Amino acid sequence: MKPTRILAAAGLCLAALCANPGWAQDVRPSVTAASPDGSLVLSVTTDNDARPTWSLSRKGKLLIAPSKLGFLLTDGLNMVRGFSIAGSEKAAADDTWEQPWGERRFVSDHYNEVVVRFQQSQVQGARRMNVRFRLFDNGIGFRYELPEQPALKTMRIAEETTEFDIVPEGKAWWIPGGEWNRYEQVYRETPIDAVSTAHTPITMRLEDGTHLSFHEAALVDYAGYWFKRASGQLFRTELAPGSDSAKVVRDLPFATPWRTVRIANDAAGLVENDLELNLNEPNKLGDVSWFKPARYIGIWWGMIRGDWTWAEGPRHGATTKRAKQYIDYAAQHGFRGVLVEGWNMGWNGDWFGHGDAFSFTQPTPDFDLKGLTAYAAKKGVHLIGHHETGGNIANYEPQLDDAMALYGKLGVDVVKTGYVADAGGIIAPGDKPGETKMVWHDGQRMVNHYLDVVKDAARHHIAVNTHEPVKDTGLRRTYPNWVSREGARGMEYNAWNAFANGPDHEPTLVYTRMLSGPMDYTPGVLSLEGAQHTPLASTLAKQLGLYLALYSPIQMAADFVENLKAHPREMEFIEHVPTDWAESHLIAGEVGDYAIFARKDRNGPEWFVGGVNDATARTVTLNFDFLDEGKTYEAKIWKDGEGATYLTEARHRIAYDTRMVRKGDKIDIWLAPGGGAAMRLIPQD
Ligand code: NOJ
Ligand code: CA
Repeated sequence: MKPTRILAAAGLCLAALCANPGWAQDVRPSVTAASPDGSLVLSVTTDNDARPTWSLSRKGKLLIAPSKLGFLLTDGLNMVRGFSIAGSEKAAADDTWEQPWGERRFVSDHYNEVVVRFQQSQVQGARRMNVRFRLFDNGIGFRYELPEQPALKTMRIAEETTEFDIVPEGKAWWIPGGEWNRYEQVYRETPIDAVSTAHTPITMRLEDGTHLSFHEAALVDYAGYWFKRASGQLFRTELAPGSDSAKVVRDLPFATPWRTVRIANDAAGLVENDLELNLNEPNKLGDVSWFKPARYIGIWWGMIRGDWTWAEGPRHGATTKRAKQYIDYAAQHGFRGVLVEGWNMGWNGDWFGHGDAFSFTQPTPDFDLKGLTAYAAKKGVHLIGHHETGGNIANYEPQLDDAMALYGKLGVDVVKTGYVADAGGIIAPGDKPGETKMVWHDGQRMVNHYLDVVKDAARHHIAVNTHEPVKDTGLRRTYPNWVSREGARGMEYNAWNAFANGPDHEPTLVYTRMLSGPMDYTPGVLSLEGAQHTPLASTLAKQLGLYLALYSPIQMAADFVENLKAHPREMEFIEHVPTDWAESHLIAGEVGDYAIFARKDRNGPEWFVGGVNDATARTVTLNFDFLDEGKTYEAKIWKDGEGATYLTEARHRIAYDTRMVRKGDKIDIWLAPGGGAAMRLIPQD
């Protein structure tokens, strides 16, 4: 279907006159627009101090009260006051586009759009600023567009002052922005008016059941924003810092990232929502069939637990011998990838937040990179590369292209990158040769760095899995080789402390972090043990359910191969679960409590169902409405065994079942405390 664009002059309405016909003295013009089904209605105007504002109602009720728009600059009058509406244009589109890989093959992109043109008075600086709003039935996005203009050549942004004044009360699920551990924090559940400064996406459930998620789309050459509460339920953008007082520096013309709000009736509407993807530009890389969604294993969990080391020495993890063992296992069990960390020079000594010794091209003497890639290739396996920078991009950037070229030549077509450093602790090249400066993982400099790495990798047909990333804002649509990232507490935390992530973590991630995009969570620790036997807050069935709950086109089975081998029945599920889907539906779930998905294989007729639970045992009725009419499926089921609980050794109790299901059938499934479930549905005819 081709997009249909209807251009029309937006009708200007006198703001207060429309709402209150009695107030004839108030002549501020406003612009209104509605989503395609009319449920969301936007109003854009200026307030008594000539400050641009936007507001939004849903189904006739005010959702976002008038909220200001604008910028503070480091070198000029602010762009907050003295604005009037100079005009507006409307457009609409109803399109469907295809993803090269993803949670669903086809994405519907249906919206009404309005661009509102603001002009500032002479005395306030005479700047022009346009705001483009797109209204979908399940959300809204808007961004600032700064056109070329005589009064402003370069914008040095001290702060963006976009506001979101949420009207109904409710609860929020969030992690703090600006904290030392970046996005790697346990989620909090608080009233909306108890949020401080949050990372996005931040999720809310309002008293009337409406679900919201505030985030951004197409974060390019700009700083990421934190969602900062100003008072009550009024929030404001706070940009991640730069290395001086300007958080963003851009030459005009340019557009900011989109500020987005997903708006849904229920949890499923929040999750099955492609707002940010739709607001990103289409694929710029062309044919990306060289990226193959796939499962992988790795020489990794041993280092994370401390049994092996990244550094050279007697416990070095990345040895030729061990890599061969992992390649052999991968070949036998259908894993395309084997991640090897610590294969390169520079890990000896203190690399955290430092990383100046890393070489990205020189293997350690006990690791035969060339021989191993050839050995793997013969078996249809690919090594997954690793670039840990220690947060030192001044050391990494000059080596980047050589490093990618080396991997490209050797058939290493996925690379995991890493930026282990505290927030604000990235070492970037300075303004003069030999100098460095400190920047933030989510500041403008790093936003540009991450994308430069992705673009360079694409030139060598390599996909990127970023750890310690900036948050995902849907850029996989434009650069489909940016396939996964961390950006939350992953499995690794379970190696370090008992119940480190807690049973609520994954059923919260589904509705928060996962709304931004794929996560390299690294499930599949079938031993349910971290270092020194520290237990995971998980039953065995939950380890399988994670493959359906937390989407990524590259999915690890993280445990040692010895532990995978010890669980042949669980491996039967892992060896079959796809990493690329034609469709994905949340068929049961509530934010922070539980999440069960039904997903259809993109390359075959099978469906997979499963997910994760929090600490509260529950029986969930699954409705098989999503199946094809008239077909019978054999459902192979992995579920929590009787009495299973994450709290005791009973976490290992798993039960297996097989039954026939057809469209419309219902199955009750019991989820243990910290439990989960997984099913494989095989059509019978
Ligand atoms: C932190 C990453 O999340 C982890 O996966 C990796 O192994 C270490 N950094 C070392 O790079
Ligand atoms: Ca990490």
